[in-house]
Amino acid sequence: GMSHILTHIEDHVLHIVINRVDKKNALTRSMYQQMADAIFDAKHHPDIRVILLKGHGDCFTAGNDIQDFASKEESEHVAETAAFMRALMDCEKPVIAQVHGVAVGIGTTMLLHCDFVYAQPNTRFVLPFINLGLVPEYASSYLLPKIAGRRKASEWLMLGEPFGTEDAYQFGLLTDIVPETSLSDKVMSVCKKLVEKPAFSLLQTKSLLNNDTDLIRQQMDIELDVFIQAMGMDAAQEAFDAFLNKRPINPDKFK
Ligand code: COA
Repeated sequence: GMSHILTHIEDHVLHIVINRVDKKNALTRSMYQQMADAIFDAKHHPDIRVILLKGHGDCFTAGNDIQDFASKEESEHVAETAAFMRALMDCEKPVIAQVHGVAVGIGTTMLLHCDFVYAQPNTRFVLPFINLGLVPEYASSYLLPKIAGRRKASEWLMLGEPFGTEDAYQFGLLTDIVPETSLSDKVMSVCKKLVEKPAFSLLQTKSLLNNDTDLIRQQMDIELDVFIQAMGMDAAQEAFDAFLNKRPINPDKFK
């Protein structure tokens, strides 16, 4: 069948394109695994100097596939997601995200692990975990307060309401807001600049900036235990079922 993750290398840039347009680029287990493999393979690929993440169609990604979340298989069911996020955090080469439309859940979380993030002005971000009976994931409860400050991190994670590019930019989630017509050119020009930097200096600069990986990994493991616990609880199961059946959440079951 048609692949939901497209990859190609062009001018030393590995393009990873999320391509599940009919489902708003919601990410399934196999999509995470393909992205994990692509990032992992890039490590030993001398032709790849920069990695670019983006979405086809009208958005970046609607986040984790909720059908996948709803299946109660416990811990192994986040294995591919964890493999992708670990590959992203361990990636020695610079990663750029090009964002438009919506970036939901892990679609926003993964931006915290990218080196550059450019978004179109009308992009909407949301960390909806609290509204799904879930908790922050992949070190966002560590990185978000660090990047945005505790006030914003609490608002974004405890209310779970969508926010726009102005907020995202002001609170450090974005490198820049770029109009739709020039976004792709802007991102390509940044990729080109990075490709032309001395390779040793570029990799070492990223490595030096990533000087708290132990704390990141530690918080990620702590979060994942709580996340898996939450997934099996009544509130989350009610939220997943409501979404999949296109009905409102029953507040009696969402406690
Ligand atoms: N998982 C599974 N399917 C999803 C999905 C997700 N995260 N997000 C969207 N889809 C599916 C919808 O079920 C719908 O499928 P259908 O056409 O078979 O009915 C299709 O993608 C289009 O989505 P729709 O909701 O109709 O589009 P929209 O433009 O009205 O809204 C969103 C877009 C992203 C705001 C909305 O889809 C949404 O809130 N998705 C859930 C996001 C979420 O909570 N993700 C989990 C993060 S932890």
